[in-house]
Amino acid sequence: MQNILITGANRGIGLALTKEYLAKGDSRVFASCRNPAGAAELGALAETNFEQLRVLQMDVTDEASINRAADALRAGTDVLDVLINNAGISGDDHARIMGKLTSTEVSHVISTNAVSSLIVTQACRELLKKGDNPRVVMISSGLGSLARADGSSYAYRMSKAAMNMAARVLAFDEAMAGITTVTMAPGWVRTDMGGSAASLAPEESARALLTVIDGLGASDNGKFYRYDGMELDW
Ligand SMILES: NC(=O)c1ccc[n+]([C@@H]2O[C@H](COP(=O)([O-])OP(=O)(O)OC[C@H]3O[C@@H](n4cnc5c(N)ncnc54)[C@H](OP(=O)(O)O)[C@@H]3O)[C@@H](O)[C@H]2O)c1
Repeated sequence: MQNILITGANRGIGLALTKEYLAKGDSRVFASCRNPAGAAELGALAETNFEQLRVLQMDVTDEASINRAADALRAGTDVLDVLINNAGISGDDHARIMGKLTSTEVSHVISTNAVSSLIVTQACRELLKKGDNPRVVMISSGLGSLARADGSSYAYRMSKAAMNMAARVLAFDEAMAGITTVTMAPGWVRTDMGGSAASLAPEESARALLTVIDGLGASDNGKFYRYDGMELDW
């Protein structure tokens, strides 16, 4: 039985990942979200999967909330095998469009997507160290790749490039020795963020991500993968 922590698990890809892990049946999922009272579907799943699913409150932008969630996690398990930093935002026009950018909104997106995933990882480090083949997965984006040559979505793309760098540093930091860290692009997915025209259903993306995550080991440390396991350019 592996222990998994997923951030932003109340909707979209995070909820789909939670469902896939439950369906597989070999995992215990700690599903975190910032407002459990408003997470009806996740709450209903937790009621019917009492042994396999626990919902934790965590706003990834609030360090006190992260620390409370880490305490709750420690109360529920001695080890963490997989951390999936999934929570994210794309930001509004003030984060996206030249001429409308504001420092506040650009910073908010970068902080939510990149800084928070690093702080959540730090809060989970000791539990991960005790895990079986412990893995940290940053849910990034192809839009975070420096190889792309197009102009759009400033803050989101900066945040995902920074998230990718965090994954690289984590992968080679002695303080994280024994923990495999990768960054993954989930594809273009039909969620609130991806929109209805996106090519993948959340469950398709989640199933493929989970297959890759299950197979990760030390030789994958520091790599950037697409949801189907293809290695991506930085
Ligand atoms: N959909 C795509 O096509 C696509 C493509 C590439 C990468 N991604 C990445 O995949 C991840 C999931 O995206 P999605 O498509 O599932 O988006 P989504 O449907 O908009 O869901 C975003 C999730 O992140 C949570 N979240 C946002 N800010 C948070 C905070 N401060 N604390 C805790 N949770 C927070 C949301 O919770 P609330 O309900 O509380 O807001 C929600 O659960 C993101 O990192 C995104 O960048 C998505």
